Amino acid sequence: MKIFVAGGTGAIGRPLLDQLLARGHHVVALTRSRERAQSLAAQGIEPAIADVFDSDSVKAAIAHAQPEVAIEQLTALPKTYTSESMSAAATVNTRIRLEGGANVLAAAQAAGVRRYLRQSIAFWGIPGSGLADEETPLAIDASPAVAADARIVTEIERRLLETPNLEGIALRYGFFYGPGTWFNSDGDVGQQVRQQQFPIVGNGEGVWSWLHIEDAASATVAAAERGNPGVYLITDDRPLQVREWLPAFAQWLNAPPPPQISVEEALQIGGADTVYYGTQMRGASNAKAKRELNFQPRSLEWLVETTPA
Ligand SMILES: NC(=O)c1ccc[n+]([C@@H]2O[C@H](COP(=O)([O-])OP(=O)(O)OC[C@H]3O[C@@H](n4cnc5c(N)ncnc54)[C@H](OP(=O)(O)O)[C@@H]3O)[C@@H](O)[C@H]2O)c1
Repeated sequence: MKIFVAGGTGAIGRPLLDQLLARGHHVVALTRSRERAQSLAAQGIEPAIADVFDSDSVKAAIAHAQPEVAIEQLTALPKTYTSESMSAAATVNTRIRLEGGANVLAAAQAAGVRRYLRQSIAFWGIPGSGLADEETPLAIDASPAVAADARIVTEIERRLLETPNLEGIALRYGFFYGPGTWFNSDGDVGQQVRQQQFPIVGNGEGVWSWLHIEDAASATVAAAERGNPGVYLITDDRPLQVREWLPAFAQWLNAPPPPQISVEEALQIGGADTVYYGTQMRGASNAKAKRELNFQPRSLEWLVETTPA
């Protein structure tokens, strides 16, 4: 198939382009940079140069490519994962999701694209017992940044799924880890954990659903080839509380054990969103992706299983 990817030069975009090529697809990838366009061409990918905020250029790029499928992986997230850097990036990241994404979606619709997949997020199922599934409402009344993000995700998914004459698929990914992500040995959280700057909050009962970046790419390829319109949660098999994954991550990095701070301290240092991620976040179920996409995620690479003696 001919597949157009916006955001193909980012953390998930790179393995995604490789896997699409390996499956024999004709891949067209958008970038703003002439230099990156040259590297894409050297890889056997057709580059398209445009800024997604320039709706005419995006329209021309997709009209020229005439793809059957479009995949949107755009973000404007920082290389560091701190409450300060995430707040500083929030305005442009919201703009790229809403305005940039709307431009790509409109261009795809105008060019007669049959199927459109976009990046979405698995972290914001409303807190409660058990795992969230695709029907679980999002936490639009949670802490300020989480609530704002949950509202944006609700809006971008609604727009996509209500677009006529288009098979819309929203892929709600878990926390990315692996090469090029925050949660890698050389990534920003890896550095913070080494410096004991990434604490367990309260009792660390927030549940995180993880996803290796290569597994994110393979689920996306499967959804592009044979997914059904609608939402998929793409996460690994074993959501883990912070008190489980964070000490294991520190050990894997040969870092000292993570410090523990109270909820009150976390509120002062990072605000209510830090408390949400540390103590309230709910894990997500990948049952639908396993059933419909034959998704087979790997186990979290830094979790060393201990077998009873
Ligand atoms: N679920 C998750 O855990 C999750 C999800 C997303 C990101 N993250 C994390 O966030 C960090 C950064 O991730 P990332 O890979 O998304 O960021 P990135 O490396 O900055 O990639 C952003 C992508 O969006 C494109 N883009 C941005 N603005 C654009 C514009 N105005 N017009 C056209 N294209 C535009 C970029 O293309 P060009 O620069 O080539 O133009 C690039 O392909 C990583 O640590 C990643 O793990 C986590």
